[in-house]
Amino acid sequence: MDKIVIHGGKPLNGEISVSGMKNAAVAIVLSTLLVEDKCLIENLPDIADINVSLEILRSMGAKVERKDRNTAYIDTRSAKQGVSPYDLVRKMRASYYLIGAELGRFGRAYVGCPGGCDFGQRPIDQHIKGFEALGAKVTVRDGYIDANTDEGLKGTSIYMDVVTVGGTINTMIAAVKAEGTTIIENAAHEPHVVDTANFLNACGAKISGAGTDVIKIRGVKQLHGTTYPIIPDMIEAGTYMILAAATGGRIRVSNLIPKHIDSISAKLVEMNVNVEEEDEAVVVERKGDLSKVNIKTLPYPGFPTDMNPQIGVLACLANGTSMITEGVFENRFRYVEELKRMGAEIKVDGRVAVISGKGELMGARVRAVDLRAGIAMVIAGLAASGITEIDDIYHIQRGYERVIEKLSAVGADIKLIHVPDSGAYDKTE
Ligand code: EPU
Repeated sequence: MDKIVIHGGKPLNGEISVSGMKNAAVAIVLSTLLVEDKCLIENLPDIADINVSLEILRSMGAKVERKDRNTAYIDTRSAKQGVSPYDLVRKMRASYYLIGAELGRFGRAYVGCPGGCDFGQRPIDQHIKGFEALGAKVTVRDGYIDANTDEGLKGTSIYMDVVTVGGTINTMIAAVKAEGTTIIENAAHEPHVVDTANFLNACGAKISGAGTDVIKIRGVKQLHGTTYPIIPDMIEAGTYMILAAATGGRIRVSNLIPKHIDSISAKLVEMNVNVEEEDEAVVVERKGDLSKVNIKTLPYPGFPTDMNPQIGVLACLANGTSMITEGVFENRFRYVEELKRMGAEIKVDGRVAVISGKGELMGARVRAVDLRAGIAMVIAGLAASGITEIDDIYHIQRGYERVIEKLSAVGADIKLIHVPDSGAYDKTE
């Protein structure tokens, strides 16, 4: 099994450029099915989740050609509806977007239940509620979601019972070509909702209000191809900002949208970290000892749940008792057991973690239990004294582009140890 080996304890200095946003890119790539034309997608992150998404489209008959590492032509004219290969679909959560895209394009979807990181229950009832409101009949059986409509999808008003990123985007995708107007209320505000809407609008969709509580979609009969650059990944940006704070040194995190990382910058400042904002970059430098912090993760613009493990590591390196409350998922603290191997003192009670920061961590052998927990182990290993070995790193490769290269460039002593026949990419999440 491939692993990452880190010799930690060195301050890191230099610049890290942020890649395209994973969670926007997966939605945009899969929604090209609706477009039925040729698109050129730029700033596409070169990560496993995108390679899987492109592979799913290929398996459906789409023509996919990578122009270079971060640019791909996707032509979905010849795509056909069918059973999406379960061994691809189960590898990532975002394969749920196939349901909205297939329904919108073919009036029918038959898709395996999605995989993805394990944070306890991750229902998709709100996605199904959206499809049913648009007139689809949806059944879930034998691990597959079967959705179809005899008379085509029809615009309507849908109130989301919980604020859901996936449910909002999926319903929006399905509604683009529905007859009439759809209104999604209590919509998620995340930048990837806005980016997906912007992409679809660039293809001729008529979506307004993305980024607010209410999204209005006026159905159109046809879309057309476009060239579209994916926005920078705010979670990757936040991850490297925390890395700078955790290891000391000074890192310029470039190619980001500062507004998207406001909540992360604010918490770092509270922890005694200097965050200097430029037009499309931030320079992050720890001022002295890290201060304790209290955080509750929330939907955007709140502090992101996808930054919970990374800030958890930073709280271990602070002095004093910090509290992290998880406000989005049932169980986002699976990383805690791994951090304890590195000397962390953390008590978890339900959705609250109380972290007794001791100002240091020690290298150990740990696992990447999910994507963000995995990158948190990388941060912990780089900040810790001694050697850290991380197993199950395929989780990290799902969402972080060229992570070893980017970290080595700022002075990290980090190596990927390749063990042949690891079967890493065949793993189910
Ligand atoms: N929920 C429901 N019913 C639904 C959908 C969601 O009850 O039909 C609940 C969930 O159980 C959760 C909350 O609503 O408690 C929010 O879930 P959401 O639907 O927003 O999450 P998601 O679509 O499954 C996306 C990202 C996650 C990110 C969350 C929250 C993608 C592919 N995934 O997941 O990203 O944590 O939004 O921002 O966009 C990651 O990148 O590491 C990652 C896990």
